[in-house]
Amino acid sequence: MSEDDRKRWNSRYQEQPGAREPSAFLRSLAGQLPSTGRALDVAGGTGHDALWLARRGLDVTLADISDVALERAGEAAREAGVALRLQRLDVETEPLPPGPFQVVLCLNFLWRPLFTGFPKVLAPGGLLVFSQPTRSNLQRHPHPSARFLLDEGELPRLLHDLAVVSYTEGWTEEGRHEARLVATLRAPGNA
Ligand SMILES: C[S@@+](CC[C@H](N)C(=O)[O-])C[C@H]1O[C@@H](n2cnc3c(N)ncnc32)[C@H](O)[C@@H]1O
Repeated sequence: MSEDDRKRWNSRYQEQPGAREPSAFLRSLAGQLPSTGRALDVAGGTGHDALWLARRGLDVTLADISDVALERAGEAAREAGVALRLQRLDVETEPLPPGPFQVVLCLNFLWRPLFTGFPKVLAPGGLLVFSQPTRSNLQRHPHPSARFLLDEGELPRLLHDLAVVSYTEGWTEEGRHEARLVATLRAPGNA
């Protein structure tokens, strides 16, 4: 299954050359995010968000299943004169890279078991930044298909050992219906 995923994502990236802009959600958090320490971009694709974090001064690891995406991220990092650590990783079968990370980013990728892995790699005080379209997104867009979408109100229920810093669900300026979350490790003793 995962080898199929790798091939599928490799072909998709081969068919779609060109760089993407960093996420508007991520950029909106500029005032909250640290500019030193380590960051992990989970399923980060061609590295537009990872590069944005690296340009801010973070030591960024980009993990993705697609070799093509990682190659492209490496090229973009070289062109920008910025360092990125690239890791080919199938997060459905392999553990996340060892932390602690001050920022863990996971945008537009949904694998629910990751919510037990995120707290294990977050540094105390570190931030998880997560967004994913919800089912309402199908009202305007056929993709992502239903199996990749969150139910309305589902995201906070997926959290383990994490406390919500901010959470919104609704139509974004880009016209997608998204759940957007910033969370941090729950303090020991706080349920
Ligand atoms: C919709 S793209 C999102 C990319 C990026 N996070 C963004 O917001 O633009 C989903 C990404 O997940 C990666 N991916 C899919 N299955 C994966 C897996 N099992 N492990 C790691 N990455 C995976 C794909 O290669 C692709 O880069």
